[in-house]
Amino acid sequence: MRLLSARLIVSLIVGITLVSLCTSYYQVLVLNRGLQKDLQRRAEVLGESLARNVERDLERDAQHTLQQTVQQFANREHLAGLAVYDPQGHPLAVTTSIEPLMASAPTIVLQALQENHDTSAFLRMGSASIHIYALPLHRGGELIGSLAIVHDSGYIRRESLRIWRETFLSALAHVVLIVLITLLIVRWSIAGPIARTAHWMKALRTGRGTIRIRVPDLEMFRPLAREVATFAESLNTARSAAELEARLRETGESMWTADRLAVHVSARLEDGRLFVVSNREPYMHTRRGKSVEVKVPASGLVTAIEPVLRACDGTWVAHGSGDADQDNVDTHDRLPVPPDDPRYTLRRVWLTKEEEEGYYYGFANEGLWPLCHIAHTRPLFRASDWKHYQEVNRKFADALLEEMHNVSRPVVLVQDYHFALLPRMIKQSRPDARVAIFWHIPWPNPEAFGICPWQRELVDGLLGADLVGFHIQAHCTNFLQTVDRIVESRIDWEHFSVQRLDHHTTVRPFPISVEVAEADAGPARESAYEERAALLKTLGVEAALMGVGVDRLDYTKGILERFLAIERFLEKYPRYQGVFTFVQIGAPTRTHIKRYHDLQAEVEAEADRINWRFQADQWKPIVLLNRQHSHEEIAPYYRAADLCLVTSLHDGMNLVAKEFVATRQDERGVLILSCFTGAARELRDALQVNPYDIDQTAEAIRAALEMQPEEKQMRMQRMRKQVREHNVYRWAGSLIGELCEVRLDAAEGGGDKFRAGASVR
Ligand code: G6P
Repeated sequence: MRLLSARLIVSLIVGITLVSLCTSYYQVLVLNRGLQKDLQRRAEVLGESLARNVERDLERDAQHTLQQTVQQFANREHLAGLAVYDPQGHPLAVTTSIEPLMASAPTIVLQALQENHDTSAFLRMGSASIHIYALPLHRGGELIGSLAIVHDSGYIRRESLRIWRETFLSALAHVVLIVLITLLIVRWSIAGPIARTAHWMKALRTGRGTIRIRVPDLEMFRPLAREVATFAESLNTARSAAELEARLRETGESMWTADRLAVHVSARLEDGRLFVVSNREPYMHTRRGKSVEVKVPASGLVTAIEPVLRACDGTWVAHGSGDADQDNVDTHDRLPVPPDDPRYTLRRVWLTKEEEEGYYYGFANEGLWPLCHIAHTRPLFRASDWKHYQEVNRKFADALLEEMHNVSRPVVLVQDYHFALLPRMIKQSRPDARVAIFWHIPWPNPEAFGICPWQRELVDGLLGADLVGFHIQAHCTNFLQTVDRIVESRIDWEHFSVQRLDHHTTVRPFPISVEVAEADAGPARESAYEERAALLKTLGVEAALMGVGVDRLDYTKGILERFLAIERFLEKYPRYQGVFTFVQIGAPTRTHIKRYHDLQAEVEAEADRINWRFQADQWKPIVLLNRQHSHEEIAPYYRAADLCLVTSLHDGMNLVAKEFVATRQDERGVLILSCFTGAARELRDALQVNPYDIDQTAEAIRAALEMQPEEKQMRMQRMRKQVREHNVYRWAGSLIGELCEVRLDAAEGGGDKFRAGASVR
């Protein structure tokens, strides 16, 4: 750092000095010229006005008057004196003060006489600097002598010297100032951040990685710091993964981690590659003014699949729905993601407005979604939507086949109700591919499913897969009963598989889950209180207790029922008025669909009504935050809440329940969970409610707030154990493991679909 400072200082001194020298040189040059010209002009004007008088005196031969005249002009504003000479250059009259210099005519005077023309020059005579202007004198055209006007020009030199002196002083002041500023900048913006970064990196290297550094603290090193931060994060992750593995080995626990999944999957895939297809993409590029930002959409599916692909690499094929998506792909519509730390490939598929309208909004979300959820919203089946659904499935199949080209042993995980036809399309072109489809929403009973005009085609498409997954056993059973009722097939109820024509499909429950961060990364126990106070303060509310709900604004989530339960609770237990506030984070979703659009207005109106009824001073019962929040924005609410309300009317799994549990490292907080969610089968220690029963939910809110800390802790510990042991890595490991055990019909001529022992612990 010293060498850098020395180099900077020397360069600055040389630079500033050079610039000052050149500027001053130029200034002096200009000034000299100006002053000389001015002096010359003054001499000429004086000469002109005096010449007539002197000529008259010479005419009259008035020696005395001549001497008086030259004497009069001595010492006037740089004028040293005058001298008059005869045509031979003999002095006739000279101002006394310049007599020593001008006693004999200087060359310049002789030159003026000889050439009969005025002339001038700057001269140095002894120590004096002078300017002489000589002009010939005439009488009737005859040369009768010469007049010399002598100025002291020493002041011009003195002016120049003054400028050089001032320049030197100002350059010196500049140098001192700039050197000081440079040294301060070096110290604050370079030496300081470098020292902090070095300190931080050392702490990371030596394993004391608790020192937190904010990227903005590193000022101009931000781009570098971002890279280092990512690097450090990977290092930390690797270190905690290694520690976790060691701990698990020590305690003999069998737990799934990202690393274990990566090893497990690469062993199963051998030289194959993993492909995921879903409608929703994990990263969207959207425009905000002139800049483009990357968003992670609010989607349970994305929450679950993203950590899997991060761990295992592969290609994720999805609909590019961001308005800046097309500008952020290569010529094959691919991009590496996550954008700041690429781990896998995203292949975007483009849909026209009509396709999106018919396939996504129409058939998938106005037809299949309400059909499968049975939440009392009537499904709509339009022939035009069905046509688009088929076309878009074909489009995704083509994109996937393109990605799979030249890949041997591809393993394909198709996601959800948007792609029921895809498994058969893929298998028809690539019988060597192992294809699973995971249905993230419930599968209803055959009577309910039977109202869909295209039930046969949907089921046939799904049976193209080698493996069909649901969250829970009940959905598998519903599915097999539906198959039994509508297509020709042989069902093996013992092994939960279907034989249709020559193809075998196995149907299994795989309860999806979330990633669980290991302890220590979260805040200390006491800070939940502080975090809650700070959060409520930013919302402009004062309350001692807080509940939280996090949902897409979907009619299946039971948000209105939840609000009614809060109203009932406050009505029944007025002591909680002014004390308990419920924060509802609601991400708008599918708003082009009228039912969703209306729901948003209904939710807002209901929150307003209840707030109006109870609110007082700085308190209100419901805070509705209806915009999409990132995981990082939601986490503080989970950590700070006394309770989390999940009141879905019907839900395949519901990952909010599991995320809440996964976030509560402090082992506090109570989960109130609808019994109509898949999660209710696993999270037995939640307070389970029927969301249609408003009084029961109200009572659960009271019970949660009044629960003894020991009981809260015991329940949360058990739920955390369940979620930790059945995390998303286990889900993916089981699904992929089971799929990789499939014996391919085309390659191996049918027979048993699974080898013995194809299960994952
Ligand atoms: C449900 C579905 C997911 C879907 C999510 C968000 O959880 O099962 O597949 O990703 O809703 O819905 P969206 O329509 O916004 O993708």
